[in-house]
Amino acid sequence: MLVILDFGSQYSELIARRIRETQVYSEVLSYRTSIEQLKQLNPKGIILSGGPNSVYDQKAPACDPEIWNLGIPVMGVCYGMQLMVQQLGGEVDRAERGEYGKASLRIDDPTDLLTNVEDGGTMWMSHADSVTRLPDGFELLAHTENTPCAAIADHERKFYGVQFHPEVVHSDDGIALIRNFVYHICDCEPTWTMETFVEEAIREIRAKVGSQRVLLALSGGVDSSTLAFLLHRAIGDQLTCMFIDQGFMRKYEPERLLEIFDHQFHIPVEYIDARDRFLEKMVGVTDPEEKRRRIGHEFIRVFEEGSANLGPFDYLAQGTLYPDVIESADTNVDPQTGERVAVKIKSHHNVGGLPKDLQFKLVEPLRKLFKDEVRNVGRSVGLPDEIVRRHPFPGPGLAIRIIGEVTKERLNILRDADFVVRDEINKSGLYHDFWQVFAVLLPVRSVGVMGDQRTYAYPVVLRLVSSEDGMTADWSRAPYDLLESISNRIVNEVEGVNRVVYDITSKPPGTIEWE
Ligand code: XMP
Repeated sequence: MLVILDFGSQYSELIARRIRETQVYSEVLSYRTSIEQLKQLNPKGIILSGGPNSVYDQKAPACDPEIWNLGIPVMGVCYGMQLMVQQLGGEVDRAERGEYGKASLRIDDPTDLLTNVEDGGTMWMSHADSVTRLPDGFELLAHTENTPCAAIADHERKFYGVQFHPEVVHSDDGIALIRNFVYHICDCEPTWTMETFVEEAIREIRAKVGSQRVLLALSGGVDSSTLAFLLHRAIGDQLTCMFIDQGFMRKYEPERLLEIFDHQFHIPVEYIDARDRFLEKMVGVTDPEEKRRRIGHEFIRVFEEGSANLGPFDYLAQGTLYPDVIESADTNVDPQTGERVAVKIKSHHNVGGLPKDLQFKLVEPLRKLFKDEVRNVGRSVGLPDEIVRRHPFPGPGLAIRIIGEVTKERLNILRDADFVVRDEINKSGLYHDFWQVFAVLLPVRSVGVMGDQRTYAYPVVLRLVSSEDGMTADWSRAPYDLLESISNRIVNEVEGVNRVVYDITSKPPGTIEWE
């Protein structure tokens, strides 16, 4: 395994993912991790991440300098390289000119770390400080126009530093560099595969759970579905899957879920029809956060009642993923004041959102995995592609796509419009070109004409977006023909809608959902 010590970079997680893509297990740990902990983990190498600080800031985070005596390879990235240089006796200074964005890498020593990295290729830079004097034992590997020390090495002790970010997609041969570090310098073997993960996870689940009973709240999303398949394989009917129908799912979705689980794969699901209860909670509510709060509360109540009726259970299975447990430094720290600057945009409700004080022990077999790894695990335990590759769908469902009050009538309108959108996208064969595709119902009405009749009905917003991870997104340049057929069908088939508009806002400044 490799360890990434996180100094607050927005890319630390990405470094871990890139390493795992080489089939080597990696973990992100705080830069404060003690030397004893590191020794216990016994990694084959350490990467020091970037970070928002200058090594000369008063509050600049630093790792224990004892890591230089562990006798294992270390690579510093950006801030990590500057810290390495400072701790080993070199010098870092504010550069005359910082370097941000793409830079052309000029290679001085094409061996070891830079094997198969093209001279003149692009690497992604983002720094104000620069290394001005190398510590004893270090040599220059590469430079750029504005950065004299872009890559450095102490070959003897296997310490490496890169000022650029090999982990981001804009860096041409970044992956080649990472592979050199992982395979040739740290001597790791590509043993981290989802098949071995599944075998190990099943062994661990059985050892932990024994003959006790496990409850799982199934949503139909990829995480809880993968979890259900994995647990069912491990402990069979000691697992109970509970599906709470809040009434905010898309057309035919609850039925399809039961069909797949119950009938196709013989994983029994306890269906709880809570549609009326949730709808009652929506009466008179228009504020998006209040909607989420009420849905979250009601979910917990229904869950508690359901588990009491079906129980008792010893364990609760949760689809916690690695990004939720990363022990990272705060990434939103103001480098001058040291204060957190995070701002809450939306309080996400999802089906895993249960309180911590429930009377269950937890089983969380996915907590080491990134989302794309969960999909691969899902595939390897036989989860059908329609769930593995399903677009994300928010926990509060259609309730946050109805702007204003959620009523039965408006839910039906949106559900029908949404069905047309998905149906047309499926028929077009372009489903996987999008991150999400959906309709939003507005609380205003506009005039139209159908036949010779005046209409006065709701507009629907069409939202088709592309994205890598949902953090940023762009509106999709979908073919006009597709937009036209969606619009025509909605206006013709969905009673109560007489207009379709297309949302052409990226995120930021918009968000993907309207609420
Ligand atoms: P936004 O609207 O914040 O959405 O740009 C980013 C991603 O998160 C999903 N989303 C949610 N998921 N509970 C969820 O489980 C929520 O309350 C929630 N709100 C937004 C959204 O669909 C998109 O994929």
